[in-house]
Amino acid sequence: MDYSNRHIFLNGFMGVGKSRIGRSLAQRLNRPFVDTDSLIETRAGYAVKEIFEKKGEAWFRELERRVIAETAAGETPLVIAAGGGALVDDGSLALARQRGVVVFIRSAPQAIMERVKRNDKRPLLQLSAGGDYEERLLRHITEMLERRAPQYLRSHFVIDRDGMEADEVSAWIIAYLEKL
Ligand code: S3P
Repeated sequence: MDYSNRHIFLNGFMGVGKSRIGRSLAQRLNRPFVDTDSLIETRAGYAVKEIFEKKGEAWFRELERRVIAETAAGETPLVIAAGGGALVDDGSLALARQRGVVVFIRSAPQAIMERVKRNDKRPLLQLSAGGDYEERLLRHITEMLERRAPQYLRSHFVIDRDGMEADEVSAWIIAYLEKL
Protein backbone atom coordinates (compact mmCIF):
# COMPACT_ATOMS: atom_id res chain seq x y z
CA MET A 1 0.00 0.00 0.00
CA ASP A 2 1.42 3.38 -0.95
CA TYR A 3 0.98 5.46 2.18
CA SER A 4 2.39 8.73 0.78
CA ASN A 5 -1.09 10.14 0.15
CA ARG A 6 -2.77 8.57 3.15
CA HIS A 7 -3.14 9.95 6.64
CA ILE A 8 -1.56 7.96 9.45
CA PHE A 9 -3.92 7.49 12.38
CA LEU A 10 -2.44 6.48 15.72
CA ASN A 11 -5.00 4.40 17.57
CA GLY A 12 -4.95 2.82 21.02
CA PHE A 13 -5.76 3.22 24.68
CA MET A 14 -5.26 6.34 26.80
CA GLY A 15 -1.73 6.83 28.02
CA VAL A 16 0.08 4.74 25.40
CA GLY A 17 1.89 7.83 24.11
CA LYS A 18 0.04 8.48 20.84
CA SER A 19 0.73 12.22 20.94
CA ARG A 20 4.46 11.97 21.62
CA ILE A 21 4.89 9.19 19.07
CA GLY A 22 2.75 11.16 16.61
CA ARG A 23 4.91 14.27 16.93
CA SER A 24 8.06 12.26 16.35
CA LEU A 25 6.51 10.46 13.37
CA ALA A 26 5.26 13.71 11.82
CA GLN A 27 8.72 15.18 12.11
CA ARG A 28 10.35 12.16 10.46
CA LEU A 29 7.80 12.15 7.63
CA ASN A 30 7.77 15.93 7.34
CA ARG A 31 4.00 16.11 7.76
CA PRO A 32 1.72 18.19 9.94
CA PHE A 33 0.68 16.61 13.24
CA VAL A 34 -2.88 16.77 14.54
CA ASP A 35 -4.22 15.65 17.90
CA THR A 36 -8.00 15.10 17.92
CA ASP A 37 -8.34 16.01 21.62
CA SER A 38 -6.61 19.35 21.00
CA LEU A 39 -8.89 20.07 18.03
CA ILE A 40 -11.92 19.24 20.14
CA GLU A 41 -10.69 21.51 22.94
CA THR A 42 -10.15 24.38 20.50
CA ARG A 43 -13.64 23.92 19.04
CA ALA A 44 -15.37 23.63 22.38
CA GLY A 45 -13.30 26.25 24.19
CA TYR A 46 -12.89 23.85 27.12
CA ALA A 47 -10.50 21.11 28.20
CA VAL A 48 -11.70 17.51 27.60
CA LYS A 49 -12.25 17.07 31.32
CA GLU A 50 -14.54 20.13 31.43
CA ILE A 51 -16.42 19.05 28.32
CA PHE A 52 -17.30 15.77 30.05
CA GLU A 53 -18.38 17.66 33.18
CA LYS A 54 -20.40 20.38 31.48
CA LYS A 55 -21.80 18.61 28.42
CA GLY A 56 -21.44 14.90 29.03
CA GLU A 57 -19.70 12.10 27.15
CA ALA A 58 -22.30 11.80 24.36
CA TRP A 59 -21.72 15.45 23.38
CA PHE A 60 -17.95 14.88 23.41
CA ARG A 61 -18.31 11.76 21.19
CA GLU A 62 -20.43 13.67 18.70
CA LEU A 63 -17.80 16.39 18.39
CA GLU A 64 -15.09 13.73 18.19
CA ARG A 65 -16.88 12.01 15.28
CA ARG A 66 -17.08 15.33 13.46
CA VAL A 67 -13.40 16.10 14.05
CA ILE A 68 -12.38 12.65 12.76
CA ALA A 69 -14.57 13.06 9.67
CA GLU A 70 -13.16 16.51 8.91
CA THR A 71 -9.51 15.59 9.41
CA ALA A 72 -9.96 12.38 7.42
CA ALA A 73 -11.48 14.37 4.54
CA GLY A 74 -8.49 16.76 4.22
CA GLU A 75 -6.21 16.41 1.19
CA THR A 76 -2.87 17.02 2.94
CA PRO A 77 -1.60 13.76 4.42
CA LEU A 78 -1.36 14.14 8.19
CA VAL A 79 -0.22 12.23 11.22
CA ILE A 80 -3.29 12.08 13.48
CA ALA A 81 -3.23 11.05 17.13
CA ALA A 82 -6.79 9.85 17.73
CA GLY A 83 -8.26 10.04 21.22
CA GLY A 84 -8.41 6.56 22.78
CA GLY A 85 -12.16 6.21 22.22
CA ALA A 86 -12.36 7.93 18.82
CA LEU A 87 -11.83 4.88 16.62
CA VAL A 88 -13.89 2.60 18.83
CA ASP A 89 -16.76 4.11 16.83
CA ASP A 90 -17.46 1.88 13.80
CA GLY A 91 -18.13 4.76 11.41
CA SER A 92 -15.01 6.70 12.39
CA LEU A 93 -12.84 3.58 12.18
CA ALA A 94 -14.21 2.79 8.69
CA LEU A 95 -13.42 6.33 7.57
CA ALA A 96 -9.93 6.25 9.07
CA ARG A 97 -9.19 2.90 7.39
CA GLN A 98 -10.47 4.18 4.07
CA ARG A 99 -8.56 7.48 4.09
CA GLY A 100 -5.49 6.41 5.96
CA VAL A 101 -3.33 3.79 7.57
CA VAL A 102 -4.44 2.98 11.12
CA VAL A 103 -1.73 1.93 13.59
CA PHE A 104 -2.64 0.36 16.93
CA ILE A 105 -0.10 1.42 19.55
CA ARG A 106 -0.30 -1.33 22.17
CA SER A 107 0.92 -1.15 25.73
CA ALA A 108 0.38 -3.45 28.72
CA PRO A 109 -2.20 -2.39 31.36
CA GLN A 110 0.50 -2.07 34.04
CA ALA A 111 2.59 0.28 31.87
CA ILE A 112 -0.52 2.32 31.04
CA MET A 113 -1.40 2.57 34.72
CA GLU A 114 2.09 3.86 35.55
CA ARG A 115 1.80 6.54 32.87
CA VAL A 116 -1.68 7.79 33.78
CA LYS A 117 -1.88 7.40 37.54
CA ARG A 118 -0.85 10.95 38.46
CA ASN A 119 -2.77 12.65 35.70
CA ASP A 120 -6.26 14.01 36.28
CA LYS A 121 -6.97 15.05 32.68
CA ARG A 122 -8.78 11.87 31.66
CA PRO A 123 -12.35 11.71 32.98
CA LEU A 124 -12.74 7.99 32.19
CA LEU A 125 -9.80 7.10 34.42
CA GLN A 126 -10.76 9.06 37.52
CA LEU A 127 -11.51 6.76 40.43
CA SER A 128 -12.26 7.75 43.99
CA ALA A 129 -9.14 8.08 46.15
CA GLY A 130 -8.45 5.22 48.51
CA GLY A 131 -5.93 2.74 49.84
CA ASP A 132 -5.75 0.30 46.96
CA TYR A 133 -5.94 3.04 44.34
CA GLU A 134 -3.32 1.64 41.93
CA GLU A 135 -4.78 -1.85 42.11
CA ARG A 136 -8.29 -0.58 41.34
CA LEU A 137 -6.99 1.64 38.54
CA LEU A 138 -5.13 -1.31 37.03
CA ARG A 139 -8.29 -3.45 37.13
CA HIS A 140 -10.33 -0.66 35.56
CA ILE A 141 -7.78 -0.16 32.75
CA THR A 142 -7.55 -3.92 32.12
CA GLU A 143 -11.34 -4.25 31.83
CA MET A 144 -11.71 -1.23 29.53
CA LEU A 145 -8.84 -2.42 27.38
CA GLU A 146 -10.35 -5.92 27.08
CA ARG A 147 -13.65 -4.42 25.93
CA ARG A 148 -11.97 -2.21 23.35
CA ALA A 149 -9.24 -4.59 22.14
CA PRO A 150 -11.31 -6.26 19.36
CA GLN A 151 -11.93 -2.84 17.83
CA TYR A 152 -8.32 -1.65 18.24
CA LEU A 153 -7.22 -4.85 16.51
CA ARG A 154 -9.12 -3.79 13.40
CA SER A 155 -6.28 -1.30 12.78
CA HIS A 156 -4.03 -2.05 9.80
CA PHE A 157 -1.18 -3.11 12.06
CA VAL A 158 -0.16 -3.19 15.68
CA ILE A 159 3.04 -2.12 17.35
CA ASP A 160 3.99 -3.08 20.91
CA ARG A 161 5.59 0.00 22.37
CA ASP A 162 6.66 -1.03 25.87
CA GLY A 163 10.41 -0.80 26.38
CA MET A 164 10.84 1.80 23.63
CA GLU A 165 11.08 5.57 23.57
CA ALA A 166 8.61 7.48 21.38
CA ASP A 167 11.30 8.12 18.82
CA GLU A 168 12.12 4.42 18.43
CA VAL A 169 8.43 3.60 18.05
CA SER A 170 8.07 6.14 15.26
CA ALA A 171 11.09 4.62 13.48
CA TRP A 172 9.44 1.18 13.70
CA ILE A 173 6.18 2.56 12.35
CA ILE A 174 8.00 3.85 9.29
CA ALA A 175 9.66 0.46 8.82
CA TYR A 176 6.22 -1.20 8.89
CA LEU A 177 4.71 1.39 6.53
CA GLU A 178 7.46 0.74 4.00
CA LYS A 179 6.50 -2.94 3.93
CA LEU A 180 2.71 -2.53 3.58
C1 S3P B 1 -10.61 8.89 25.82
C2 S3P B 1 -9.30 9.18 25.52
C3 S3P B 1 -8.71 10.53 25.69
C4 S3P B 1 -9.79 11.59 25.51
C5 S3P B 1 -10.95 11.32 26.43
C6 S3P B 1 -11.57 9.93 26.23
C7 S3P B 1 -11.08 7.49 25.67
O1 S3P B 1 -7.65 10.72 24.77
O2 S3P B 1 -10.22 11.62 24.19
O3 S3P B 1 -10.48 11.49 27.76
O4 S3P B 1 -12.31 7.25 25.67
O5 S3P B 1 -10.22 6.58 25.56
P1 S3P B 1 -6.17 10.07 24.93
O6 S3P B 1 -6.23 8.69 24.35
O7 S3P B 1 -5.30 10.98 24.12
O8 S3P B 1 -5.84 10.08 26.37
